[in-house]
This record gives sequence, structure tokens and C-alpha cells, in this order.
Amino acid sequence: MGLLDDRICLVSGAGQGLGRSVALEMAAEGAGVVLLERNGETVAAVASEIEAAGGKAYPYSLDVTDYARYEQVVGDVVIAHGRIDVLVNNAAINPPTRTLLDDTLEDWRRTITINLEAVYMGSKLVAPHMVRRQSGRIIHIASIQGFASSGECGSYNAAKGGIIAYTKSMAVELGRYNILVNAVAPGFMVTPMSMVNGVDETTTPDFIDWYVDRRKIPLGRAGLPEDVSGTVVFLASDYCRYMTGQLLVVDGGLMSTF
Ligand SMILES: NC(=O)c1ccc[n+]([C@@H]2O[C@H](COP(=O)([O-])OP(=O)(O)OC[C@H]3O[C@@H](n4cnc5c(N)ncnc54)[C@H](O)[C@@H]3O)[C@@H](O)[C@H]2O)c1
Repeated sequence: MGLLDDRICLVSGAGQGLGRSVALEMAAEGAGVVLLERNGETVAAVASEIEAAGGKAYPYSLDVTDYARYEQVVGDVVIAHGRIDVLVNNAAINPPTRTLLDDTLEDWRRTITINLEAVYMGSKLVAPHMVRRQSGRIIHIASIQGFASSGECGSYNAAKGGIIAYTKSMAVELGRYNILVNAVAPGFMVTPMSMVNGVDETTTPDFIDWYVDRRKIPLGRAGLPEDVSGTVVFLASDYCRYMTGQLLVVDGGLMSTF
């Protein structure tokens, strides 16, 4: 018996990093996982990985900002499986230019479109199918950067803060349909996104000195994708029944220090 036996779970940005880990863990818990990812090669590789482990994967090459194609994919999934139980809005970018003084309106709009508007799109397309069945889970991957800032990530901060506020709004709106909406805020994670200018930001001497050796992260290490995917599986499972509109911070204790 798995925690998600026979559930149909959609995971965006499932080709690598946290999305890949969430997809693998959901499949290991018995879910049929619909992988939504703009990179056709990585999504196929993750699907093969899941199938090789005996799981069920349904890969789709999709840019989540393409509303018409997203609508088509959601429609196909509902026709094929009859329902959608869980949506994980995970896909995002960490753009190189993100500050007010250095970015352009075009940079800002690109980040907001992928990191915030596509969360709206996925939720808007999936929620009616959950309403029909009076059941569902929507899980957003936010960030600690949604409520604290390094001062270098303006548009990213704004998008993640928007997700946190929208989690509450969606939870209140959709509670009457037995749809639970929660968010997860990872801290520093070791994923391809942590590569900044070709360097893994979680391995620099400054990072090791401040966050690890001096325990700015009380647990003394950056997070691994598996540290987040377990939390997502919990939110998707029957162990989470009476919790909605919440933000679970998964950061090794970073935001508990000053
Ligand atoms: N890595 C971290 O330190 C960290 C910290 C806090 C929050 N997060 C959040 O966790 C989530 C996953 O991040 P990650 O570290 O795994 O990132 P990642 O860059 O390793 O993976 C993101 C995935 O999303 C896909 N993607 C991006 N734009 C897309 C689009 N328009 N359509 C479809 N797919 C798209 C990418 O191709 C990639 O496979 C993101 O929401 C990110 O903001 C990450």
C-alpha cells in the first residue's frame, strides 16, 4: 500500500531538480504521475526512470505558459484517467537579471509569467475537474524568497510572495469543494537551479562558512530534493486532511535564526 495509490498527480517542471524528485516519490507511493515539462528530453528520462522502478508515468512536453496547449493536456489527462487528484505547481525559473535597477520590463514579465501566472493557469485549468469530484489537492512550490529577500531577486521574490498570498485565497475559495491548497517554501536546495554563473551556490566558500560552519542553517547543510518531496507527498496524502491555506517552510531552520 502506497500513500498515493491510484491517484493521478500532475507535476510541472518534472524534468529535473525538485520536480523530478516529487514525481519519483509520488510514483513510488503508487500514484500515476503526469509529468509536465518544457524540456522533452529530461521529461522522457524521468518517465523512463519511474517506469524502470515499476511506477506509472505519463510525460508531456509542455511550456506551462502556453495556456492553449496546457488546456489540451489537462483535457487529455481527464479523458485518459477520468480525474486529476493532485496538481503540483513547481515549474519556475531563476533568471540572471532580477533586480529593480538592472532588469528590464521584459525580464520582469518573463519571470512573473512563468513563476506566478503559470501557477494561476494550471490551477484554473485543473480546479474545475476537482470541483466536479468534490476532491483535490493543489500544492504550490514557493520559496523562502517569498517572504524574505537577499536583495538580488526582485521579480523572483514578487512571484513567490504572490504564490503565498494566492495559496490563502485559493484555499478559502475552494475549501467548500473539499479542495485543499497549500504551499511549500524551500530554502537553499541543491538542484540545477542552485547553479549561478556556472557555480553551485551551495558549495562556495562563503556559503560553507556562513550557512554550514557558522550554522546560519541550523541543520548545517543545504537541502536535497528529497527533503522537499517528502513534504509534498505528505500534503498530497490522507495524512493531510484538515490543513489548507498553509505554507510549510523546508529550509533546515534558516528562517528561524537571526
Ligand atoms: N533550488 C532552490 O534552491 C530552490 C529554493 C526555493 C524554491 N525553489 C523552487 O522549487 C521549484 C523547483 O526548482 P528547482 O530547483 O528544481 O529548479 P530547476 O531549474 O532545477 O528545475 C525547474 C524545472 O522546471 C522546468 N521549467 C521551467 N520553466 C518551465 C516552463 N515554462 N514550462 C515547463 N517547465 C518549465 C525546467 O525545465 C526544469 O526542468 C521552483 O518553483 C523553484 O522556484 C527552488
